Amino acid sequence: MHKEGLPSVRRAAGAEQDSGTAGDAQDADGGDGSNILIAYFAVAENSAVDAVSSASVTTADGEAKGLVRVLAEDIQQVTGGDLFSIQTSVEYPGDINELIDYAAEEQDEEARPELTSHIENLDDYDIIFVGYPNWWYDMPMVMYSFFEEYDFAGKTIIPFNSHNGSRFSSTIETIQELEPGAEVVTDGFTVNQSSVTEAAADVEEWLHGLGY
Ligand SMILES: Cc1cc2nc3c(=O)[nH]c(=O)nc-3n(C[C@H](O)[C@H](O)[C@H](O)COP(=O)(O)O)c2cc1C
Repeated sequence: MHKEGLPSVRRAAGAEQDSGTAGDAQDADGGDGSNILIAYFAVAENSAVDAVSSASVTTADGEAKGLVRVLAEDIQQVTGGDLFSIQTSVEYPGDINELIDYAAEEQDEEARPELTSHIENLDDYDIIFVGYPNWWYDMPMVMYSFFEEYDFAGKTIIPFNSHNGSRFSSTIETIQELEPGAEVVTDGFTVNQSSVTEAAADVEEWLHGLGY
């Protein structure tokens, strides 16, 4: 597939690597949320990306972390769910232009990056928030690995993402296809990359609308 017309992406320098959610689910401080998992993919939290020098990692709240991680934390604040960082052995390029090309190749090849973090206690969760950036009008290919690893039948999946103009593209329909036994909430939260760090109130309002 020939790729053109990609919305320009962020080119912000990172600060320091956040070592927060290295695979294991973390408990939130507030709320019950014991049956809620907030799984998200952030390239900043993947093995070889050097967040200190990387131009592909945003600085938010004085920390180098992906925008999707920021949204995941906003959701955690309200729901009290556990955070889970989706990680892969893929060494994503730290240079933003190389990352864009790399992601295009992954998509063209229908790659399934190997997952290195795994949900050990899936039975504990009924509600799975799933967050990812829009990459090339789709989910990053590691999200296909993720949905193919787990059967979320009987659970509720609530998507959220950040983008630079493409919103969800058709990713919600894709998730429905990949998880036919799950209830996929189509009213997911999507926000432009430029507004993520001010999105907490909107996230809260959206969650209230869903009954949280
Ligand atoms: C490889 C790559 C491809 C992207 N493709 C798109 C796209 O097709 N449409 C879009 O709106 N934004 C696109 N973006 C922008 C990202 O969706 C946006 O910057 C997102 O907020 C990044 O989240 P993160 O900081 O958690 O990585 C792309 C970014 C990258 C790095």
